[in-house]
Order: sequence, then C-alpha cells, then structure tokens
Amino acid sequence: MSRAIIIYATRKNATKSIAEIIGEGLRFGGIEVTVMNVADVEKSQLDLESYDAVLLGAPTYHGEMHSGMKTFLFLAEKANLEGKVGGAFGAYGWSGESAGRIYDTMKNIFKMDMAGGPLMLKSAFIGGGVQMAQSYGKEIARKLGASV
Ligand SMILES: Cc1cc2nc3c(=O)[nH]c(=O)nc-3n(C[C@H](O)[C@H](O)[C@H](O)COP(=O)(O)O)c2cc1C
Repeated sequence: MSRAIIIYATRKNATKSIAEIIGEGLRFGGIEVTVMNVADVEKSQLDLESYDAVLLGAPTYHGEMHSGMKTFLFLAEKANLEGKVGGAFGAYGWSGESAGRIYDTMKNIFKMDMAGGPLMLKSAFIGGGVQMAQSYGKEIARKLGASV
C-alpha cells in the first residue's frame, strides 16, 4: 500500500481542515495517510523519505507563508524527495501567495513529481471547497497508481 504524509501549518485551523479533507480523498484511493501539524514534526522523528507522496500546506499572512512551514521547507531540503509525488495547498483571504511558493519549492528545489498545481482555498467550507480538496487528494492518489 502506498503511503502519503500531509504536513500543514496553521493559525486558525482552516489549513488543517483542508489537510484533513485532502487526506480523505487520498484514502478513497486506498492510500495510507498521515496528517501532521508542522509544530509536531520535531518530536515525531519524522522520516520523510519513507513516504511515497508528500503534501505540504500553509496559510498566507501578510503576503508570506506561515513561518512554521518556511522553517520546515529548509528541513525537508535535507531529505531526498526527488521523483516522489507532491502537492501543495493553503487557506487564504485575498492574495494567497503561500501555496504557490510551497509548490514552486517542491518542484524546483526538491524536484518532486507535482500535482497539476497548488490548491488554494479561501475556506474549506465555502462553495466547492470540500469537493476541491477531496479531488486534490484523489489526483495525488491517481499519481500513486490508484484508480479513483
Ligand atoms: C493579520 C492577518 C493577515 C493576513 N494576511 C493575508 C494576506 O496577506 N494574504 C491573504 O491571502 N490572506 C491573508 N490573511 C487571511 C488568512 O490567510 C486566512 O484567514 C486563512 O484562512 C488563515 O488560515 P489558517 O486558519 O490556516 O491560519 C490574513 C489574515 C490575518 C488575520
């Protein structure tokens, strides 16, 4: 069974909600999923390289990604994630720079096999947000070979 980890930073839990719904989409495809707050990474003895897919998410504040994710990206740079399936996401209010910056880092620095684009949601529960986040999870599952 393929394994995916979803790591999110958040201040008010919108990005956490997106992470959990993406996780549901992945599970529809039979993928084993771990969802983790970036604040818990240090004590978790995380082995990023042991996952087939890595998804990272953070909200935008003052045009910047949440600092917890910024720090984590430097940590993740030390792992060899080349060729692994990747996705990036984030909650936002109006400009939403964060998800795209995470996506670009995973693509250009980590050299991961990324989903079609970053997932940006104003709120996990507005409009088609839930469906979009589930679909994103399914897209990643398909990249891992699932037919979902
Ligand atoms: C002080 C403050 C600054 C913010 N700055 C931005 C911003 O520059 N661009 C943007 O798109 N959203 C901005 N937002 C909106 C947040 O990104 C949005 O509320 C998001 O859902 C928060 O996600 P979280 O619950 O995961 O922390 C800001 C919100 C606050 C409270």
